[in-house]
Amino acid sequence: MNLKKIKFGIIGGGVMGEVLIKSLRQELKISGQNILVMDLHTVRRNSLTRKYQVKNTKEYNDIINNSKIIFLAVKPQQFKQVASQLTKRLSKDRIIISIMAGITLAGIKKRLSHQQVVRTMPNMAAQIGSGITLWMADKSVKQSDRKIIKDVITSFGMEIEVDSDKKIDALTLVTGCGPAYLLHLSGILEDFTKQQGIKSIQAKKIVTEMMAGALVLYLQSNKDTKDLINNMSSKGGVTEAVFDILSKKNKSEKIWQNAFKNALKRTSIISKKYE
Ligand SMILES: NC(=O)c1ccc[n+]([C@@H]2O[C@H](COP(=O)([O-])OP(=O)(O)OC[C@H]3O[C@@H](n4cnc5c(N)ncnc54)[C@H](OP(=O)(O)O)[C@@H]3O)[C@@H](O)[C@H]2O)c1
Repeated sequence: MNLKKIKFGIIGGGVMGEVLIKSLRQELKISGQNILVMDLHTVRRNSLTRKYQVKNTKEYNDIINNSKIIFLAVKPQQFKQVASQLTKRLSKDRIIISIMAGITLAGIKKRLSHQQVVRTMPNMAAQIGSGITLWMADKSVKQSDRKIIKDVITSFGMEIEVDSDKKIDALTLVTGCGPAYLLHLSGILEDFTKQQGIKSIQAKKIVTEMMAGALVLYLQSNKDTKDLINNMSSKGGVTEAVFDILSKKNKSEKIWQNAFKNALKRTSIISKKYE
């Protein structure tokens, strides 16, 4: 398969549908004539066509008949409805790539009665080409097609191929939700900075610069995080005083483990509900 000649279909022209289109057009230089987007809203379809010169349709048949690779970019709760329109109508050679959170590879295959399925989980930063995408493909997907799929996914940023839904669900807590944890901590630090009489805009600058510096240090160092923290804290010093509270009887570690357990429980509820 030659990437430039593949016909892509995208079901769902929302936030992530647009990210897919943008990556295909701008990163992979796929012709707009080879991308067909389907969305319920005429205004949205036309706007994507104007912005990226892609084709659009409101008919499932157009996607089914004309696309070799079909992205499912609708919300998980919309999957059953979409699947009911695709099931038993997909020819064997079609490759379905889901970006829906929480819906397992087996769940997608079953609803679509189709084997060649790839489950991916991009994160928010895919919007700026700096994402991390977790993915796994059904064993029926050929090696040469996997290479194409990998090229497509790489256009959103870094890719990590895994071997189970369980790993996608667990790692999503790092790659998908991780930015929210960092923003949560940033908010706490920003509030504390403002409480010291620093203006809001400056407080944000202080926190973002600190975060950026710490991340570069983390990136460039071959030490693990515990060693880096130890390097920053001296015996009887103030950093140690903060961790005396946070890590007393492993409190913060236990809170995080409980939070992750709760999130995994939620993932399983979502997949049971929407598959
Ligand atoms: N946003 C993220 O950062 C992110 C990251 C990773 C993964 N994801 C996954 O990406 C998927 C899409 O998320 P999103 O944020 O892009 O959602 P979104 O903005 O709501 O986009 C979905 C689009 O699909 C349309 N749609 C609904 N049913 C349809 C149908 N039967 N046929 C064609 N189009 C249909 C929706 O219309 P309506 O508005 O009328 O429903 C909407 O325009 C989700 O499954 C989510 O889990 C999102």
